[in-house]
Amino acid sequence: MVLDLKREAARAALEHVESGMRLGLGTGSTADHFIDLLGDKVKAGFDVICVPTSERTAARAAPLGIRLTTLDETPELDLTVDGADEIGPRLVLIKGGGGALLREKIVASASHRMIVIADQSKVVEAFGVYPLPIEVMPFGLEATRRAIAAHAKAMDLPDALALRRKADGTPYVTDGGHYIIDASFRRIPDPWSLARALVSIPGVVEHGLFIDMAGLALIAGTDGVIQLKP
Ligand code: A5P
Repeated sequence: MVLDLKREAARAALEHVESGMRLGLGTGSTADHFIDLLGDKVKAGFDVICVPTSERTAARAAPLGIRLTTLDETPELDLTVDGADEIGPRLVLIKGGGGALLREKIVASASHRMIVIADQSKVVEAFGVYPLPIEVMPFGLEATRRAIAAHAKAMDLPDALALRRKADGTPYVTDGGHYIIDASFRRIPDPWSLARALVSIPGVVEHGLFIDMAGLALIAGTDGVIQLKP
C-alpha cells in the first residue's frame, strides 16, 4: 500500500517534467518509482538528460535508456525530483536515510527547482524524530563525533550518535568515501541553528537537513496527491 502511494507521488512529479529538461534524479524507493516512470516516457520518445544522485540511482536509470550525465558536463539543472525521510514545516527536510545526502544536496543545489515526492507518512509537525544523517570524514572520526555531541549538548539535544554500519558490522561508506553518523535527536526545534553548528565542524562533510531547497512537495495519501509549499 505504502509503495503504491510512493508511486502516485512519483507519477504526479512527472507532470512537472517536460521533454528537453535537464534533471536531477534522487535516491530511494520513492525516487526509484520516478525513475521507472521516467524510463517509460523515454521509451515513448521523451528526451531528457539526467544527473543521478547515487551509484544506485545510476544503475537503475541506465538500463531504462535514460541518458545520464554529470554536473561537470551539465552543471545547471532545471529540476531535481527526490524523496525525503521527513518533511517538516516550511518544507525543511531530513534526507540521507539511503546514504546519498551529499550528492543529493549538491545536485539539488545545482537545480533551479527541487520537488520532493513522498507518501503522507513522511510529513510531520514535530520535526526531527527520524535520525539525522551526518556525513563525516573517516579521518578524525572520534574527534568529530565529540564535536557534534558538544554542539548537541549546547542546544539541549540528546547525545545519541551512532556510526552507521553495514550488516557485517563494518562502517557504511558513502559514494564519496565518507562515513555517516545517525543522530537520534528525537526533535529538532531549530534546524537553522543546528545546520549552522554542524557545518562549523571541520570533520563534517554535510548533513541531512535540507533547508530552503524544496519549492514543492507532492504528498500522496489515500485521498490523492496534495501539494505543499514552503
Ligand atoms: C536517500 O539518501 C534519502 O535522502 C532518501 O531520499 C530518503 O531516504 C527517502 O527514501 P524512500 O523514498 O525510500 O523513503
